[in-house]
Amino acid sequence: MHKSKQDNFLRNQWYVAASSNEIETGCIKSLVILGEPIIIGRSKQGELFSISDNCPHRGTLLSLGTFDGSEIECPYHGWRFNTSGKCTLIPSQMKNHTQQANDIEVKSYPLKEYMGIIWIYMDYNKNVEPFPKIENKNFFLKLYVKKTFDCNIDLAVTGLMDPAHGSFVHTSSIWRKKRDTREKKKILKPIRNGWKIETHKVSSNSKAYRLFLGSEPESKISYFLPGIRHEITTTNKYFYSGLTACTPIDNSKTTVHHFMYWNVPGGVFLKFIIKKLAINFLNQDAKAVIWMKEGKKYSKREFLIDDADLQIKWYYKLKKNWSRYCSDNDKFTNPIKETVARWKS
Ligand code: FES
Ligand SMILES: [Fe+2]
Repeated sequence: MHKSKQDNFLRNQWYVAASSNEIETGCIKSLVILGEPIIIGRSKQGELFSISDNCPHRGTLLSLGTFDGSEIECPYHGWRFNTSGKCTLIPSQMKNHTQQANDIEVKSYPLKEYMGIIWIYMDYNKNVEPFPKIENKNFFLKLYVKKTFDCNIDLAVTGLMDPAHGSFVHTSSIWRKKRDTREKKKILKPIRNGWKIETHKVSSNSKAYRLFLGSEPESKISYFLPGIRHEITTTNKYFYSGLTACTPIDNSKTTVHHFMYWNVPGGVFLKFIIKKLAINFLNQDAKAVIWMKEGKKYSKREFLIDDADLQIKWYYKLKKNWSRYCSDNDKFTNPIKETVARWKS
């Protein structure tokens, strides 16, 4: 198993690393995920790869060097690494030296490209867990926005999934008045490492959907580890789908990625409006998590209630079971049971 680490991150999970179109052919990008410096790149043949951004020689960030489309050269002493992380050249070594390039490699990470998203497997140790089942009706990625939340993964995930903050935090003069709450009844069922909210009519106080998709929209939503929310909302003509993923940078910063798909006709103007709204939403949530973070400096205590905070409790339970599964190699069991939940939001 992996080395024990003093952090709060789930391992043996597929995390969202980037949007596919952020990584162009022949280019690399440097990221920090779960506190590890990582390079994600696409070779000149178009093959996606990911290796550690730490030169094994003296620790220089390899991404500060050069990438010629097939190898990365460290800027400090010119050691070269191929896309699987193998060292191919140590310029200072003579033929008779015992240490040669092929003795050395940097860590590489499994990747998957799906729905216009680059997913990375953290941490590879022996078996790679299966990729989560995410319904995708050949959705073509329309829009991608992201924001760094100044908080740990737990505050980001629970802050986004919390169902009762919408009518206080996400209000708008056009479609949602402050404190305008309606009764909600949702059927929640377990899925592999999360839960889904069964198909339900979109609430009459979420007018944005009606403006966008037309009448009688229905949503189905799923949440699963390590911090992913997936939604598909449809009317008889149109759909909108959103995938929100929280990926820890480190213990105090989390990237929130939001990917959007839809088939409503409309060109750049529609895209522009939706982008503005999405950024606005993320900014509102990013602000709300800071309110909690500030208060938690003084007390970590929380008073989670039924049923509005049920999903927050589930997230923590799932996380605990998954950590146990990773450290003790026990079988993973999903603690969630089918539930009918009611709340006002
Ligand atoms: S630090 Fe990278 S080659 Fe020396
Ligand atoms: Fe929110």
